[in-house]
Amino acid sequence: MCGIIGYIGSENAAPIIIEGLKKLEYRGYDSAGIAVYEESTSQFNVVKQKGRISALESRLSSIPLDSHMGIGHTRWATHGEPSDINSHPHLGNKSKIAIVHNGIIENYKKLKERLERKGIVFVSQTDSEVIAQLAEYYYNGDPMDMVIKVANRLEGSYALGIMCADQPDTLIAIKKDNPLIIGVSDHGNFIASDVPAVLKHTNKVYYLDDKEIAVLKKGSVQFFNMDKEPISKSLETVTWTLDSAEKGEYQHFMLKEIMEQPKVLRDTIRSAIYGGDNQAIIDKIDIESFNKVVVTGCGSAYNAGVVAKYVFESLCRFPSLEVELASEFRYKDAVIDEKSLVILISQSGETADTIAAMREARAKGATTLAIVNVVGSTIAKESDYCLFTLAGPEIAVATTKAFSTQLAMLYILAVRFAAKLNKITKEKESELLSYVEDLPAKVDSILKQVDAIQKYASTCVVYKSIFFIGRNIDYAIALEGSLKLKEISYIHSEAYAGGELKHGTISLIEEDTLVVAISNCERLHGKLMSNVEQVISRGAKVLLVTKLKDVQPTDRLSVINIPDSFDLFSPSLSVIVLQLFSYYVAANKGANIDKPRNLAKSVTVE
Ligand code: G6P
Repeated sequence: MCGIIGYIGSENAAPIIIEGLKKLEYRGYDSAGIAVYEESTSQFNVVKQKGRISALESRLSSIPLDSHMGIGHTRWATHGEPSDINSHPHLGNKSKIAIVHNGIIENYKKLKERLERKGIVFVSQTDSEVIAQLAEYYYNGDPMDMVIKVANRLEGSYALGIMCADQPDTLIAIKKDNPLIIGVSDHGNFIASDVPAVLKHTNKVYYLDDKEIAVLKKGSVQFFNMDKEPISKSLETVTWTLDSAEKGEYQHFMLKEIMEQPKVLRDTIRSAIYGGDNQAIIDKIDIESFNKVVVTGCGSAYNAGVVAKYVFESLCRFPSLEVELASEFRYKDAVIDEKSLVILISQSGETADTIAAMREARAKGATTLAIVNVVGSTIAKESDYCLFTLAGPEIAVATTKAFSTQLAMLYILAVRFAAKLNKITKEKESELLSYVEDLPAKVDSILKQVDAIQKYASTCVVYKSIFFIGRNIDYAIALEGSLKLKEISYIHSEAYAGGELKHGTISLIEEDTLVVAISNCERLHGKLMSNVEQVISRGAKVLLVTKLKDVQPTDRLSVINIPDSFDLFSPSLSVIVLQLFSYYVAANKGANIDKPRNLAKSVTVE
């Protein structure tokens, strides 16, 4: 969702900020803005623009912005429509304070009314403007006093970058429940919502914790607590490379990220099997001490959880195992306690509902185990145990490589838990882990079929609706296939368990409906093929994704074969076909694939 960046240093701030904002585009936004401190006038020069950053950039080309300090923002509207006036940065009435904000201020109405009673005039409909007005109201020449007073009055979530017009050498930041990193480079210092925004300049970052205040000057960064006491933090080195956050030769980040899957799978699997950090954490978890396991997440992360449910159930035979949408789990007063293990899946580690689910689980005494891609994220920091998927930066809104690494991590967890619980022998454990290790090469071989998948997908743009069916583990991955397609192509889609077709969806099947059928469970293959027959006899066309080689294509049935694998791990292979299929359907429709309308990469608000 919203993204913020700030810079103070020896270089010209505006181009650095615009460039940083472009790296935050993936978070989803509908307007953007920048404020730089104009040294000659001691004033802020603010340019805000509804729409894309390119629109903001073209306005900037006619305004010379020469400054060494500035803040920028990409806004995803929550309070007030997307418009120039509602865009950030926001200023106080006297233009003494400029702020950018990511988050939601829940008590903004109350604060706004109080400030209005004191004669302060608001110009936008946003919750964020109240921060600028409040900051200016409290400002007495000491930026830290002001930040502490403001933070003490705000309810909700925030990552804030603040400049004061009479402090040309100070950029100040604070956060609560939304991410903020502080980047340190040899020409200046940064605040940013995420690492890719600063990677061009530095890979040295501090991860700010809640209610820590960062005071940035040209050549220094200092941290304080809410009592104004200095605190020391460790400077971390980010392993992501600049290349990994660039599109390179690819037309879209999504395609690049699909193609990176063999590598990131290999990295993740190694770290969890061969003595890496992840393995050490898996070894520590005393699975025998739990009598209930709950898996939760949002969007594709939830779908990874559905796959995990089938795998855990089959291998570990947990007596009580549930998979829940994090947005439901957080409000359902779940029956969990100290004997429960709650597994949280999240690429960003910042999804508001998943964070709330984690906190709810911890409050009830459960142990939390997170599977997260972003180091330093809230879930990574607050969970009891955290396994890191080594997918690298994922920029396309629709997840692909992070999802695949989540699956691999979940298989390894399932195998290791099953072995600890004596549900499988040592030999079986090694055999299953070797299936996991084989996945990257098999994914590679599917990626080599890209031309055939592209050709097939190019014929599918005509469909108004596309159904996905599967049984058991294939149903779980059908959910992800359907989500991927609708997210980026805007074609209506539903995933159904094959056996449920007759209870609803079959009424929607008519001449030339497309059904994508997935069949990799050998024991259920016959059943699924009956479903395929049923939809074909009602006029549907079918694309079958299967490892089973006994099906001949017809004029109504197209087949894409994937390599053989252990049934339960086959989602990692079928999903590659489904990702490429969705990508090329969307590409043929000319869709904005990396940034689909209304969607955000990191859903940091409810
Ligand atoms: C958004 C993204 C999805 C992602 C979901 C959960 O909807 O577009 O790709 O699966 O959020 O995000 P998380 O960062 O928690 O995995």
